[in-house]
Amino acid sequence: MKKKITIAIDGPSASGKSSTAKLLAKKLNYIYIDTGAMYRAVTLWCLENGKPDNKEFNKQIKSINVSIVYENSVQKTLLNRRDVSKEIRSLDVTANVSQVASMPSVREYLVNIQKRMGENGGVVLDGRDIGTVVFPDAELKIFLVASSRSRAERRLKEVREGGEVASLEEIEQDLIQRDKLDSSREHSPLRKAGDAIELDTSNLTLESQVDKIYEYARLITESRQRKNEN
Ligand code: C5P
Repeated sequence: MKKKITIAIDGPSASGKSSTAKLLAKKLNYIYIDTGAMYRAVTLWCLENGKPDNKEFNKQIKSINVSIVYENSVQKTLLNRRDVSKEIRSLDVTANVSQVASMPSVREYLVNIQKRMGENGGVVLDGRDIGTVVFPDAELKIFLVASSRSRAERRLKEVREGGEVASLEEIEQDLIQRDKLDSSREHSPLRKAGDAIELDTSNLTLESQVDKIYEYARLITESRQRKNEN
């Protein structure tokens, strides 16, 4: 039995998944895998090279190398070995990512990479389909939700930090539109797994979110250890 568990954190855009997952992984000494960054990297490739249709993509996609690496504990997203960590956060990539992520060839390719990255446990993954498709057997599944306004406020801060200009209303509309596309797509839509714990983060601080999930993880790990000893 693997010693460290797998933690899946899903939820709509800007619900606090990545900051929560990152801090939680640090606290548990687990690896954090930002699956959204992988869909964003493929989207950047499409913006630079033109988006092929799904059939054409099936042939091409294996030549698109997307990887997540760590340098001095900082996660970087590489697209064909180029560090695109900053570029993938642009408004242009954000506006196009849901469409690219709805393509079955893209999903199949990235889901396989994610499964390989997390096969030994000791990972926290955040995304839209982690608890339903990528790791349906994850020991701990969390579904984060928050009001669209509080999500837009968080995203606006990130956008401004990245040096781009947008209004709160624009960002909120973009989030709502992206959630709609992500929830209604045919292949692995954004959906809460039946056995996921729902956590509303609208009025929670990042620290208290992390503490709550850390506590669940601790209880699960301890109960597994006890079972193993008996
Ligand atoms: O989490 P983030 O906002 O970076 O994700 C960007 C987009 O990538 C999402 O809006 C969604 O379309 C797609 N995505 C996905 N499945 C995942 C993670 C992200 O479809 N597991």
